[in-house]
Amino acid sequence: MPNPFNPAPGAHPTRIVGREAELAAAREGARRAALRQPATPLVLVGQRGMGKTVLLSAIRAMGGHDALTVAIESLPDRSLADRLRDKVDALLDSAETLPGRAGNALKRVLNVVPKVSFELPHDAGAIALGGAGAADDRHLDHDSLVAMLTALAQAARLAKQYLTITVDEVQDADVRSMQTLTAFIHESAQGDAPILLAIAGLHETRDLIDKLRTYVRRWDEYDLEFLTLAETVEAIREPIVAEGEAIDEDALYRLAEESGGYPYFIAAFASAAWAAHRGKRIKIGDVERTIVDVRRRNEMSFYVRPLAKLTPREMALSLVLADLGPGSHKIGEIARALGRDARDISSIRAALARKGIISSPIPGFAEFSIPFTDRFIREHAVDYRDERVLAAHAELVRAR
Ligand SMILES: Nc1ncnc2c1ncn2[C@@H]1O[C@H](COP(=O)(O)OP(=O)(O)OP(=O)(O)O)[C@@H](O)[C@H]1O
Ligand SMILES: [Mg+2]
Repeated sequence: MPNPFNPAPGAHPTRIVGREAELAAAREGARRAALRQPATPLVLVGQRGMGKTVLLSAIRAMGGHDALTVAIESLPDRSLADRLRDKVDALLDSAETLPGRAGNALKRVLNVVPKVSFELPHDAGAIALGGAGAADDRHLDHDSLVAMLTALAQAARLAKQYLTITVDEVQDADVRSMQTLTAFIHESAQGDAPILLAIAGLHETRDLIDKLRTYVRRWDEYDLEFLTLAETVEAIREPIVAEGEAIDEDALYRLAEESGGYPYFIAAFASAAWAAHRGKRIKIGDVERTIVDVRRRNEMSFYVRPLAKLTPREMALSLVLADLGPGSHKIGEIARALGRDARDISSIRAALARKGIISSPIPGFAEFSIPFTDRFIREHAVDYRDERVLAAHAELVRAR
């Protein structure tokens, strides 16, 4: 039997559990777009491994034959226009295989897209990177992004489809491209060819949104949280039952407890238990046998390596935050634990955020970006509290 769990990034689970509100909002957007009415864009914000990529692909799939879909993944050093161009080329290729009239109409219209972007001397501009060319590049990026979006919208209209655009890892998108994209979406909402837009990214996405026009703040924003225990149990049991197999209650709850509602951990632990089981039932032994190994692997990539990059001061602060327990904590409270004010620790906090160790899901609060980091640090505090860290801690407290 194939393993119904796959912890690979973006791997589609048998069913997306516990994201009903997000999916309902997306369905409503898709319904409106299909009726040529404006659809409120969706913003999905969440830590690594919370299911952002999986939701974006579910949103793209929602339209079925009614939608022309474009999936963009931002990269820190590439403009959105650049990323979209790759996708448009791919769309042109795949249009060959699209069935029926929709495919033909699509192909006809998309044929003009490369011409539009080729007419823009974008490649020539890209060579003159930096220096005097930089401003021009930005202009060309803007023009070529608008040209591609216009052509895609037109293609969709001719194919009697609506356009769905998703942008993943949006925290890495450049502000200018996002301004262009959001303005385009906003204008299209007033016409007869609305676009369904869904973007997803880490918590820093909110900083990006703050730099865009104020109407972006009226978009539907969702913070992807951990699954509840009931949802976790469902996310583990359902795929097993769907394969015609079963799992003992004690094994099920052990897996649920170990994964703590973190979608990535659910997939990782359940996948290992599935691979270890024989017959048609997963037993507690299968779970216990695999937990240690999976935990070690997770610890290495999620905690050990990232924490090894911290300076003594950053580690001192992390130890304090870990001692406060799981979840978000008031920044003032964290500072007070060091006998300081919130202001005094802001540069250390910024450095920890840059290194991806902590994030700020609510302004004024901070938490570890990866679930169970607090538990890991507490369990290994003796190793982390070395002489340099103790000295940094003492210095922080004393500097007051
Ligand atoms: N709601 C859910 N129910 C069950 N499994 C889920 C759910 N969401 C995500 N998963 C599983 O969790 C894993 C991580 O999902 P995904 O790659 O979409 O996360 P992400 O938020 O995009 O992470 P990253 O920030 O690292 O890109 C995948 O194995 C996926 O199948
Ligand atoms: Mg992702």
